[in-house]
Amino acid sequence: MEKHELKPARVVILISGGGTNLQTIIDQQEAGKLPITICAVISNRDDVQGIQRAQKHNIPVIVLEHNQFPSRESFDGRLQDIIDSQNPDIVVLAGFMRILTPDFTRHYEGKMINIHPSLLPHYQGLHTHRRVLEAGDLKHGATVHFVTAQLDGGPAIIQSSIEVEKSDSEESLKEKVLRQEHKIFPLAIRWLAEKRVVMREEKAFLDGEELAVGGVQFDKNEI
Ligand code: GAR
Repeated sequence: MEKHELKPARVVILISGGGTNLQTIIDQQEAGKLPITICAVISNRDDVQGIQRAQKHNIPVIVLEHNQFPSRESFDGRLQDIIDSQNPDIVVLAGFMRILTPDFTRHYEGKMINIHPSLLPHYQGLHTHRRVLEAGDLKHGATVHFVTAQLDGGPAIIQSSIEVEKSDSEESLKEKVLRQEHKIFPLAIRWLAEKRVVMREEKAFLDGEELAVGGVQFDKNEI
């Protein structure tokens, strides 16, 4: 079957915040640049801008507040039921700020991706911009990776780097890194939708080639 005859991949997007990455995905989908259908957006908070972004584009929104559940397992179990009811091909974590249980990550192995604001494997976890400034690093960036049980530790698909300037603050780094996120996230989603990128035995492959640690280096490649 030719690529353009492929059915659009069904995508569920999970958010916890402002949703600028969500917005980029919506915009690219609407512009015909992403072969996907966004089935639903799920937020674990009821007061975030990402919800309005989805509603404005008539995308169904489901709010599932984690603080209404007695345990991580019970929240993830319900979340899994809701996601599965959409029968998705791809699950996208677009600023979803939750540590996920191993059962949950295993269930979506190879079809769940996350974006993280650092050059993984460096700076897993929170406050990446602050930690980069404190360390005096000259480079920083963002990475899209498959989600595994290891927090921010699954195989990388693509990353993009920026120079850190002396004048940079946490806020300016956040903005600079977000601009890169908006370039690489749709690209990784497209590759996944087109089945060009796959995960096998905890490694990422693009067009059959195993990707190096960090994945494709966006800056250094004409794509
Ligand atoms: C992004 O910077 C994303 O990389 C980060 O949250 C932000 C969400 O922004 N995700 C993580 O830190 C996950 N560990 P957005 O809501 O504007 O897309």
